[in-house]
Amino acid sequence: MTNDRNSSIRWALVTGATRGIGLALARGLAHRGYGLILVARSEEGLQQAAHQLRKEGAVAVEYTPIDLAASGAAERLHRLYGEWLVDVVVNNAGTFVYRDLVECNGGRVAHIVGLHIVATTELCRLFGASMARRGKGFILNMSSYAAWVSMGGLGLYGATKSYVERMSYSLRDELRESGVSVTVALPAGVATDLYGLPDVWQRRGVRLGVLMTPERVAERCLEGMFRGRRRVVPGLMNRVMRPIASHLPTWVRRVLRNKTVGFQK
Ligand SMILES: NC(=O)c1ccc[n+]([C@@H]2O[C@H](COP(=O)([O-])OP(=O)(O)OC[C@H]3O[C@@H](n4cnc5c(N)ncnc54)[C@H](OP(=O)(O)O)[C@@H]3O)[C@@H](O)[C@H]2O)c1
Repeated sequence: MTNDRNSSIRWALVTGATRGIGLALARGLAHRGYGLILVARSEEGLQQAAHQLRKEGAVAVEYTPIDLAASGAAERLHRLYGEWLVDVVVNNAGTFVYRDLVECNGGRVAHIVGLHIVATTELCRLFGASMARRGKGFILNMSSYAAWVSMGGLGLYGATKSYVERMSYSLRDELRESGVSVTVALPAGVATDLYGLPDVWQRRGVRLGVLMTPERVAERCLEGMFRGRRRVVPGLMNRVMRPIASHLPTWVRRVLRNKTVGFQK
């Protein structure tokens, strides 16, 4: 890894940047002139993403393979990059679980809590403090529409994403005077590998309008973040449906659950 920290490059750290929404966010940030620090578990995935983004003209791309669900992961990243001019932090890495809580093993619970809650909080705390000292910066935290839907099987995923939403609002208030802006994104269905949907279903979902492309979602998120918005919900229909989604009657939640329970990754 080359050390460009003393150069004039403005850096954006993006977690979960090897594919899906994270790769699209990294691409959008590269187009805006940021050097990229890519983070995910797979070294091969990171190498490929870095190669692709460099070919497309990114000013600089660095990467670190790390399991963000592991204890101390955020501190390790901050030790590596805390002194760099990191102006943007995107907490995007995530994993999906659609399973009743009592059917999940302890390892899975610890993993999702470690990734969505602990790593996101710690990266916000550590990089947020560095940005506040410099008097500028942007943090984008990836929550989900599922934060608003209380349904059997979604407890763990939805509740950890609710945490990300609430924590982001508080952090935004806390950092308001410091010049650091915090935005939370709550996309609904996006055509990525998160749910294990085959490509053909992803394409069909986009054609039918039930899924958005990761590129469109990433662009809406970046526009919102750079405008200093508190919250971004990509897609007009998703914004219209939001009050309904949070107050689904029990019978609708049951039907939904019964129709979708077979879709387990
Ligand atoms: N797709 C949707 O419909 C949707 C909707 C709302 C919100 N979201 C949220 O958007 C974010 C991105 O989702 P996506 O759909 O783009 O998913 P994806 O295509 O599955 O990508 C997930 C990314 O996160 C990385 N990652 C997963 N576990 C990790 C870990 N323990 N440590 C470090 N990196 C990890 C993955 O790389 P490695 O596997 O190499 O680690 C990959 O780069 C997630 O937070 C998700 O909850 C997605």
